Amino acid sequence: MQILWLDTIDSTNSEALRRLPELPSATVLAAREQTAGRGQRGNTWFTEAGKNLTFSIVLKWDPGAFPVQDAHWLNYLSSYAVLQFLAEHGVSAQVKWPNDIYVGRRKICGMLVENSLNGSSLAASVVGIGLNVNQMVFPQLANATSMAVCTGNTLDLEPALQELVALFERNLSLLFDPKLFQAYSADLFQKGIRARYHDLLTDREYTGVIQGVEADGRLRIRDLDASIDHLYRFKEVGYIL
Ligand code: BTN
Repeated sequence: MQILWLDTIDSTNSEALRRLPELPSATVLAAREQTAGRGQRGNTWFTEAGKNLTFSIVLKWDPGAFPVQDAHWLNYLSSYAVLQFLAEHGVSAQVKWPNDIYVGRRKICGMLVENSLNGSSLAASVVGIGLNVNQMVFPQLANATSMAVCTGNTLDLEPALQELVALFERNLSLLFDPKLFQAYSADLFQKGIRARYHDLLTDREYTGVIQGVEADGRLRIRDLDASIDHLYRFKEVGYIL
């Protein structure tokens, strides 16, 4: 993959989407500083300039090769690459379904995947990843952490990104392979633990236990209040932390 470093940009995802027609597949746009980083649900992604990895991977798919209902495999690819990278640097982390990465109860990495469609298949994907590497304090964020906070060590961002991208590329060859799904879902945040959840479909809060991720990417939570299981797609359930 080719990595292009930008000094300052509003958002690497926005830039990747703007430049999508001209960028070859497997290009990585990385920014030393993002001035308007974007998170899930229209949130801002806060990150200190020059301290963390903020980058977007552009992928273009052959026509019909990637059915839209399999789009959750992009979360498997990227989440597992980040878990592997963190493990190699002494940080033990978990996936908070679908694609947040947590160390204990603190978030170390967030992802924003944006797809363009051709009929019922993906045409292109922009996988945006914000990984906290060297930042030590998080003024706007109560539950954030970084690799440096966890290990006491700082990393050079450019070689770190090369390493992480190489892991992502290796996982690309495991796309749709059950081994990748297993690796992704082996150790989910809050799996098997009683916790509070917010069902966004019914606007109801309950105590439940995550059972795991289904083959179709949905999260199964056992509702202890109603004695039933729920299966959720992305954005249908919230964690009450
Ligand atoms: C989230 O957890 O809310 C998702 C955060 C995604 C942040 C990354 S940083 C690189 C890329 N560019 C953006 O504007 N957002 C993603």
